[in-house]
Amino acid sequence: MKRYVMYIAVLAAVLAALPAEGRAATAEENYQFYCAQCHGTGGRGDGPNAVESQPVSPRDHTSAVAMNKLTDEDIINAIEGGGAATSKSVLMPPFGKTLTKAEVVELKDYLRKLCKCKGK
Ligand code: HEC
Repeated sequence: MKRYVMYIAVLAAVLAALPAEGRAATAEENYQFYCAQCHGTGGRGDGPNAVESQPVSPRDHTSAVAMNKLTDEDIINAIEGGGAATSKSVLMPPFGKTLTKAEVVELKDYLRKLCKCKGK
């Protein structure tokens, strides 16, 4: 019995030391998971799913020229509603049901870091 109690105590200590189960992913982790296959791991619009047979290429998020045309609101709308929500190609999927509002806003901030631009 004593041994059993010890075991529980050790287990509890180990569990407490582990990172919280529901830890929110960082914007970079979300980007690598949800966006990189099209936009590329570095955000240059050159992910493995971006092929020449597609009518439009994924946005190059490192291009200040392209990204400065978008307001923060445009970026948030594009991520939540996909290309259709911003009259762009539907090849950009909507993520409004996959990501929380906070995650979308963090991704917007992450894209602003990639382009080193503030937008309109
Ligand atoms: C299936 C491929 C694909 C995935 C996955 C994808 N995108 Fe896109 N994205 C595109 C394409 C293609 C465009 C270009 C649309 C156009 O210019 O008409 C685009 C455009 C954009 C734009 C610019 C929209 C505009 O109005 O100019 C933003 C911002 C964007 N993507 C962010 C993201 C983020 C953030 C993620 C991950 C949460 C993501 N994308 C995932 C394909 C993708």
